[in-house]
Amino acid sequence: MFLDAVLRITGLLVLTVPTLAAECTREGLLAATESYLTAQTSGKVSNLKLSSSNFTYRQNNVVSDITKGLLSTAYKVDLNRSTADTVACASYTMWISTSGSKPYVVSTQIRHANNDTSSISMIDTVAASTGDLFFDAKKTLGYIQKEDWKIIPAEQRPSRELLKKVGDAYLDMWTDAKAADSIPWGTECERVEGSQYTNPCGKTLPRGGSSKNNGMRRYVIDEEMGSVDCQFDSLGAWPDSHEVRVVAGKVKYVHTVTVMKLG
Ligand SMILES: *[C@@H]1O[C@H](CO)[C@@H](O)[C@H](O)[C@H]1NC(C)=O
Ligand SMILES: *[C@@H]1O[C@H](CO)[C@@H](O)[C@H](O)[C@H]1NC(C)=O
Ligand SMILES: *[C@@H]1O[C@H](CO)[C@@H](O)[C@H](O)[C@H]1NC(C)=O
Repeated sequence: MFLDAVLRITGLLVLTVPTLAAECTREGLLAATESYLTAQTSGKVSNLKLSSSNFTYRQNNVVSDITKGLLSTAYKVDLNRSTADTVACASYTMWISTSGSKPYVVSTQIRHANNDTSSISMIDTVAASTGDLFFDAKKTLGYIQKEDWKIIPAEQRPSRELLKKVGDAYLDMWTDAKAADSIPWGTECERVEGSQYTNPCGKTLPRGGSSKNNGMRRYVIDEEMGSVDCQFDSLGAWPDSHEVRVVAGKVKYVHTVTVMKLG
């Protein structure tokens, strides 16, 4: 009582508040994805709360100037969906724009340092457009709109370890002949690669043969959504994002965004 009064008088009350260990929350992560989408639809980077001491912008696997990147142009967003990883304090947002100067299908991972979701330390974007592998934003939109991304009931959620394993096995299929069969494919699994649709997913998979690894792997894992997104360099060369959703222990959806010009 006495101490409190003294501190009040000297204006030092703030010092008596203990510093709580920062916790990364789902709400904080999703709020940051909203701010990112708002910035994108207005083309105004200045509206984002970027860390002043530790911020990196990466577009298509290259560190670059955010003011010269995709966020500096306003795009109308037809569909967006986000997932949240409270352990890595990162989020994943996918958005599709079919109209405007250029159509886009974009995968963005946002990272926060020290569990502080009020400040963004990294925006990591893989942006596919006209000419990229199987690119057709309208077709992609049609497939993705039909997907069911409801939160998975607590007792049915895949573990973080399983999601990481599935994500890694998927990317290992090109170099490891055994990887494809280690993945728990669902019977009604749908794969949307660019705009190319395959059902079931387990059909026509790579079974080794490549000497080039899928490297630079960056993950966002969300047990509540049963999802893992991994951004990487496809066969050591092309910017790529693969998102996999696991429902009832089996792979339900695969969505890929690949920046690769054919021919
Ligand atoms: C960040 O938050 C997560 C989830 O609440 C927690 O597991 C982790 O220990 C926190 N890390 C730090 C550096 O505070
Ligand atoms: C993103 O999607 C949510 C939910 O579907 C929607 O309410 C929101 O308006 C969308 N944001 C943008 C920028 O389109
Ligand atoms: C800077 O941000 C990255 C994430 O983008 C984080 O891994 C790293 O720990 C941060 N560094 C500091 C000094 O906060």
